[in-house]
Amino acid sequence: MNAKTTFFPTTALRHLPPYVFAELDRLKNDARAQGVRLVDLGIGSPDLPISPAIINALTKAAREKQSHGYPPFRGVACYLDSIGRFMRSRFGVTIDPLHQALALSGAKEGLAQIVMALCGPGDLALIPEIYYPVYARSVWLVGAEVSWVPMRANNGFVLDLDAIPEQDAQAARVLIINYPNNPTGARVEREFYDRAVAFARRHNVLLISDVAYSELCYGGEPAPSALEADPECETTIEFHSCSKTFNMAGLRIGFAVGNTDAIEALAAYRTNVGYGTATALQHAASYALDHRTELVPPTVREYQYRRDTMIASFARAGWQISAPTASMYLWLPVPAGLDDWTWVKMLIRDEGLVVTPGIAFGDGGRGFFRISLVREAETLSRAAEAISRRTFANALLSN
Ligand SMILES: Cc1ncc(COP(=O)(O)O)c(C=O)c1O
Repeated sequence: MNAKTTFFPTTALRHLPPYVFAELDRLKNDARAQGVRLVDLGIGSPDLPISPAIINALTKAAREKQSHGYPPFRGVACYLDSIGRFMRSRFGVTIDPLHQALALSGAKEGLAQIVMALCGPGDLALIPEIYYPVYARSVWLVGAEVSWVPMRANNGFVLDLDAIPEQDAQAARVLIINYPNNPTGARVEREFYDRAVAFARRHNVLLISDVAYSELCYGGEPAPSALEADPECETTIEFHSCSKTFNMAGLRIGFAVGNTDAIEALAAYRTNVGYGTATALQHAASYALDHRTELVPPTVREYQYRRDTMIASFARAGWQISAPTASMYLWLPVPAGLDDWTWVKMLIRDEGLVVTPGIAFGDGGRGFFRISLVREAETLSRAAEAISRRTFANALLSN
């Protein structure tokens, strides 16, 4: 048999490490086939509904004839304008929407596409050692290489930029950062972005900031944008998503803003492989951004309530957890003596609970697991009881 007739994927695709969420899916299917009823706190897919006002904006736009042809490549004017208003009102950053903004069918594919637009075989990308999978996978898919940036619990999961070897900093084309962070829930202040932008300028690296969770913050100041530290967009491109902020994950819409050349490269890549983002969706997202001050707070209140309920349940069971101040996740240590997969399989088999092993987010995530707060508080409270019961049973066994 020769590779040409067997339709083998490329060497790069074949050599990607196994996708942990696919393995998790297999385990879930096996458990369901054996009659186990699962509570799935694995993938971070919001269970909250899209606001009816956003759906109205979507259906109204879908009825308009100009939504029926291919969309304009870079984005519909009203969406680009809303992005400009959002960046100004939320972060105090002024951009030129025509040249510094781009509609995306979700931040995830935009993140992959900017890497694919800028990196090729042999290039180097600086990626956090605990990472949302697409960052490293897109680098590997184009035959480029990753240099891991340390991101440790004892440093509050803030990237240690000073630990990047000078040689890698010089060679790298991009540095990807993500705060508020998935999976750890860590946040950074403006000062971190000042340092990241200074690093990017010093080494002529594109700073790629992923702020998919910028609006899901509990208490304190709202999360900053990296562009606050780079208001001229000299070295930064930032990716925003409507998936978590407006519960629109299923509709697939987000946007990129920032450096004109990087936006141009991303637009060129997208133009060559697709037709952009559906016009009607852009109208819906435009409505959402323009009405964020009324649409987002109920979602934030619900996640905060869920977080607090779950943490109180852990505390009643004797497990003190410090509450993350952002994101929709809890990031907890796997009980001593167990590896991530053994623990995750045990929870599925014995408790009907699905959580994500830390290894899904790279080697740096080993020894942790992630709980997504994507069920109502009562279910999460029962999940915390079950997890605590298992944790303490395991501690007794291993003593
Ligand atoms: C850190 C991070 N970035 C980006 C995304 C993807 O966002 P989108 O749904 O807009 O593609 C996610 C989704 O879970 C995420 O966790």
